[in-house]
Amino acid sequence: MGIDLDRIQFGDFQTPPALAARVVELLRDRGLAPRTIVEPTCGTGAFVDAAVTVFPDSTVLGYDVNPDHVRTAASSGRVRTAGRLSCEVANFFEVDWAARLAALSEPILVLGNPPWATSSGLGAIGGSNLPQKTNFQNRRGLDALTGKSNFDVAESMLLTLLEAGQQRDLTLAMLVKTSVARRVLAHFWIKGARVGAAAIYRFDAAGYFGVSADACLFLCQSGDVPVNDCLLADIERPDVVLGRIGWRDGALVSDPVVYDRHRSLLVSNGPKTSGRWRSGVKHDCSAVMELRQIASGTFVNGSGVRVELEPDYVYPLLKGTDLVHGQVDRVRRWLVVTQSRPGDDTSVIAERAPRTWAYLCANGEWLDARRSSIYRKRPRFSVFGVGPYTFAPWKVAISALHKRLSFAVVGPHNARPVVLDDTCYHLSFESEAHARQTAHLLNSEPCMELLEAMVFWDAKRPITGDVLRRVDLRQVAICLGISSDGASPALPVPVNLP
Ligand SMILES: C[S@@+](CC[C@H](N)C(=O)[O-])C[C@H]1O[C@@H](n2cnc3c(N)ncnc32)[C@H](O)[C@@H]1O
Repeated sequence: MGIDLDRIQFGDFQTPPALAARVVELLRDRGLAPRTIVEPTCGTGAFVDAAVTVFPDSTVLGYDVNPDHVRTAASSGRVRTAGRLSCEVANFFEVDWAARLAALSEPILVLGNPPWATSSGLGAIGGSNLPQKTNFQNRRGLDALTGKSNFDVAESMLLTLLEAGQQRDLTLAMLVKTSVARRVLAHFWIKGARVGAAAIYRFDAAGYFGVSADACLFLCQSGDVPVNDCLLADIERPDVVLGRIGWRDGALVSDPVVYDRHRSLLVSNGPKTSGRWRSGVKHDCSAVMELRQIASGTFVNGSGVRVELEPDYVYPLLKGTDLVHGQVDRVRRWLVVTQSRPGDDTSVIAERAPRTWAYLCANGEWLDARRSSIYRKRPRFSVFGVGPYTFAPWKVAISALHKRLSFAVVGPHNARPVVLDDTCYHLSFESEAHARQTAHLLNSEPCMELLEAMVFWDAKRPITGDVLRRVDLRQVAICLGISSDGASPALPVPVNLP
C-alpha cells in the first residue's frame, strides 16, 4: 500500500497548532480543569503540545498507532512538561479503554482529532483500520436511525470512548465531522445514557485543513442530569449561541424551540391523513434506462446511442434538479420502467414490447453489473421503488438532495404519468385538485417552519421520508383555518395507493 493510501487509511492529517491552541483555550475558558488529559490518536502532538501549555497542572497521555508520530509527539514541549507528558504507541482498537480510563485521576479530558475515514472508503482502498466487526454490528439502534451500514471510523472511536468513560467525570472534546457529532449524540440519547452538557463549535475545515467538510469541535460531558439539547456556536466566537439541536420524540431535530412550537402539527397515533411518502424509481443505470426523446418513439440513451422503443415501458421522468429549478412542465428525460410492482416478471416485455426487450438484452451486461444487492435474486432488468403510486397521474414532489424546502405539483405529460427518480419523494393523487391542495398545505408557513426544524441541511440527503411522514396534513389544515376539525370534505387526502 502506497504512502497516500496509508495516509487516507489512518486519516493522517495533522491538526495545525493554531487550531489545537484555539480548542484548548476554549476549553480552559469554559472552566475545564482536567487532572488527566488523554489524546487517543495524538499524531505528531499538536493537541498534547497545546494541552501541556494551557493546562500546567495536568498529566497528558498521548497514543498513536504510528511510532514516528509518537516519537515526535513525545518530544513536543518536553522542556515545559517536567514529566507530565507520556506518549505510547498503541492501536486504538486494541486498547481496553474502560480499564485505562478507570485508572486515571478525574476530571478526565479526552482530546484530539481522530481519523476522518469511513468504513466504505477504507473498503475501497483495502484498508483495515477498523474496529472489530462485532463491536460495530452491535450498534443496531444507531444503524436503524441512520439507515446505513457505512460508518465513520471517528464515530466508532467516540462511541467507544464515551461508553468506556460512562461512569467517570469525563469531558470529550474532539474535532469531527458535524454529522459524526450528531450521530454520537443520537446514539447516547437513544440509550438514555449519561450525556450532560454537549456543544458543537463549527470551524472552517477548508481554512484549517484544506478540505471541504462540515466540521466541528464536539464537546460532550458526562453528567447525572441528562440534557437533551446541544448548543451550536462557532469556534472563533464561542460565546455567541447560533442555535441548538435536540432530541425530541425519538429523533434528532435541528431547532428544538421551533419544533416544540409546532408540535401540534405532528402525526400522533390517530388516523393517518398524510398519505404515504414514496421515494421515486431506482434503477442505478442511467446510461441505459434514461433517455432523451428526439422524435415520437425515437430516443437517444446516455451513451449517445439512438434507439426505437415502443411506448409501453417508457415514461416521462423528472429528477430532483428539475423540481428545484421549477422545471416540472418541461420533460427532458424519459425512463424505461420495466415493472409495475417489485418482483413483476420482466420476461413478459419480450412479447409485449419486443424492441424494448431487445434493447434491454443488448445492454444486459450493464444492467447485470449493477452492484446494489436490491437487484440480486430479482427478475433480470428489475427496477426498484415501483407500485401503483408510481403511475398515478398527479404527484406532489420534493427533491431529497437539495437544500431547499419546496413542494411541486407534477401532472401528466401528454396524458402519460410522469415518474420521479430516487432523488425525490412524492405523494400520489388521482385528482389535480387534491394534489394542489396538498401542495398548498405543505408549502404553508407553519408546515415549512416545522420541516425546517427537523431537517439538517448539511446531511447528504437532507429531506428524508421519516421527516416528511411526521407531518399531519389534517393538523396543518386546521392550523391554517382551512378546516376546523380536519373532517371537511375539502381537506386534501392523497389517494393512498398501495
Ligand atoms: C487526523 S490525524 C490527527 C492527529 C492528531 N490527533 C492531531 O490532531 O494532530 C489522525 C491520527 O490518528 C492516528 N491513527 C489512525 N488510526 C489509528 C489507530 N487505529 N490507533 C491509533 N492511532 C490511529 C493517525 O496515525 C493520525 O496521527
